[in-house]
Amino acid sequence: MSDGLGLLAENIRVCTKCRLHENRKNAVPGEGNKDANIMLIGEAPGKNEDLKGRPFVGRAGELLEEVLVSVDLKREDVFITNVVKCRPPDNRDPRKDEIESCNPYLEKQIGSIKPKVIVTLGNHATETLIGKTGMKKIHGKRFEYMEFDLIPMYHPAAGLYNPNLKETMKEDMQLLEDYS
Ligand code: URA
Repeated sequence: MSDGLGLLAENIRVCTKCRLHENRKNAVPGEGNKDANIMLIGEAPGKNEDLKGRPFVGRAGELLEEVLVSVDLKREDVFITNVVKCRPPDNRDPRKDEIESCNPYLEKQIGSIKPKVIVTLGNHATETLIGKTGMKKIHGKRFEYMEFDLIPMYHPAAGLYNPNLKETMKEDMQLLEDYS
């Protein structure tokens, strides 16, 4: 791949800017439609993602696909990535310095794709981009990040932990119909 996003992905795969590269099997740059109107940003790769080098391929990914399908979206329609591109050991939260090291990659991905809307999945991604937390209050609301609309939504792992959230996640996804 020789386009901007492809080169960026190659750089991410060999990145050593923070300690997370030490234990990774594969970095997870992100994947999907390079001209996507909708960009989804999660927290960090987990075990399955680290093994496969692809975002959201475990149980959280299955739930993400289910809520996307509920509004007629497939994962190939959108671009999916994470705030940090390498798995934190034992799935701990990414640290501030790790997020800061990785942030230029995310900014370049957003600048290259220029989506109509960014969906931040969970508190980490939301806090990184717009400095807000408290998903109960802010999920499904529209914010701005640079020139893009941004909508925080529950992280799919929250929906696995609390299946009652699934309906709320599907309702929030309906907002994406404005951007398809
Ligand atoms: N959780 C995330 O935040 N990202 C993934 O890629 C997988 C699980």
